[in-house]
Amino acid sequence: MALPRRRFDTLIIGAGGAGLNAALQLADSGARVAVVSKVFPTRSHTVAAQGGVNAALGNKLPDDWHWHMFDTVKGGDYLGDQDAIEFMCREAVPTVYELEHHGVPFSRFADGRIYQRPFGGMTRDFGGEQATRTCAAADRTGHAILHTLYQQNLRARTHFFDEYWAVDLLRDEEGVALGALVLCIETGEPLLVEARTTLVATGGCGQLFRTTTNAHINTGDGMAMCLRAGIPIQDLEFFQFHPTGIAGKGMLITEGARGEGGYLENKDGERLMARYAPHAKDLASRDVVSRAIAVEVREGRGCGPDGDHVLLRLDHLGERVVAERLPGIRDLCRTFLHLDPARDPIPVFPTAHYAMGGIPTDRFGRVVAPARHGPEEVVPGLYAAGECACVSVHGANRLGGNSLLDILVFGRAAGRDILAFLEANPHHRPTEEAAVERAMARLERWERKGEGESPQALRDELQRLMEDHCGVFRDRATMAEGLQRLEALRARIAEARLQDHSRVFNTARIEALELENLADLALAMVTCAHAREESRGAHSRVDFPERDDRNWMKHSLFFLEGARVDYKPVRTRPLTVESFPPKKRVY
Ligand code: FUM
Repeated sequence: MALPRRRFDTLIIGAGGAGLNAALQLADSGARVAVVSKVFPTRSHTVAAQGGVNAALGNKLPDDWHWHMFDTVKGGDYLGDQDAIEFMCREAVPTVYELEHHGVPFSRFADGRIYQRPFGGMTRDFGGEQATRTCAAADRTGHAILHTLYQQNLRARTHFFDEYWAVDLLRDEEGVALGALVLCIETGEPLLVEARTTLVATGGCGQLFRTTTNAHINTGDGMAMCLRAGIPIQDLEFFQFHPTGIAGKGMLITEGARGEGGYLENKDGERLMARYAPHAKDLASRDVVSRAIAVEVREGRGCGPDGDHVLLRLDHLGERVVAERLPGIRDLCRTFLHLDPARDPIPVFPTAHYAMGGIPTDRFGRVVAPARHGPEEVVPGLYAAGECACVSVHGANRLGGNSLLDILVFGRAAGRDILAFLEANPHHRPTEEAAVERAMARLERWERKGEGESPQALRDELQRLMEDHCGVFRDRATMAEGLQRLEALRARIAEARLQDHSRVFNTARIEALELENLADLALAMVTCAHAREESRGAHSRVDFPERDDRNWMKHSLFFLEGARVDYKPVRTRPLTVESFPPKKRVY
């Protein structure tokens, strides 16, 4: 049977904020854009972002994008690339106003201006008092943004392939991106989407861990596709654990809850953060707060019968603040804990949240990778944006509220650069049939059914392995053992089978393919974490507790072939301002 084919100027894989903001730039300029999404677009994970998006609007207190830039560089423990950080913080202000004009229903101050709340690691005047910089639509900011962008894309006539799953990228012999092989989830039929430019915007890989804020869909598909296409993944050892997941379950309780005045308490009723971040306390950056909670529990000051969590208190904020500013987390608490945060403390513990690393790009969203045995160069026609990409603006630790900002700024930047690429490259290149065959072979492998371990059970095992061997605190021996176990698990995954029921659903096959993606990313994460012998941001080595700028101020690059790690320098020079040199990071 001949493979059905569709042709577009641009293929966008993923319908979260990055994909949809890029699509909007393109569709509004008359380009033919296809967005392929494994879920209905408004179910993409951007919908789960709660607390807000950072921009130095200064609606409550004076603010300045230079201060935002400083906080972001420091928050990332000086591993972020300062050209990209400057670009993001400068673009933040027009980006939020553009969203407002698109119709995002932001919360408002009494004078009608966009509501802003304090978030962790945000200061005024280069490290001074707490800033109020995070623009919010109650605690459902991602939901408000995603729905607005989707509606704008419908208006602009973006073409959506809803519930299609991307199998693999296609590149020709010269490495030019040609589109992707995708799969209709409902029918199981493959489809070839040929495109002059391809944007990977598939989000994160939080499903590497058992307890996570990430949806079941966050399996790092785009990152893994790039790995298979010979492109390295950058800085994947830096993975953020959000301090306030619902204990034992992992769902997100927004940092906005602490921004509104909530605080953490241990079993002795102490406000624990005073011990770890005397100045910023509960609004220190996330890596600091997560470690503090883990230490409290480890040292026996945890709450509950098993002493395995701490408490987040909001009961002093009053009914009105909780109802108006935090309605979403109140719903979550009622549903999953049968408690009302306006009255009862919330049991919380750090939960896997966000990958700082990803597909290496420049600030135009262009994928940059070392050519075979050569220096780094742009991969023609291939772009990445959002959590799957590493620009790198978050360095070793992302600040809350910079994730929505990243997807919007770099989604738009990619869209604009794609327009220029399309103009300079007006013709489709011939599809490389060998690349199509390789992608098809990946699908065909999971036609096999019968005796063998089930992908679902192996996914559970992988998540436990990652939690045990590559969590908040790391050391050489634990990770070395993790690598050995991972090798064995990967061999078992290669032999796994879909179960031989009378009917196998397409979703079972996709979960198996997702598991392969996760297994490759697990290897990347543990290998890079094991290699990096320092503590920086979210990467906390018990055996190397200090940051080591002399040896480790560099980005890692993991190549799937040979499970090899290489390094490249951090871009410490901003575009127009003075750079921020590394300093000891205290809050
Ligand atoms: O806590 C939160 O609302 C999460 C925000 C973020 O990850 O940026």
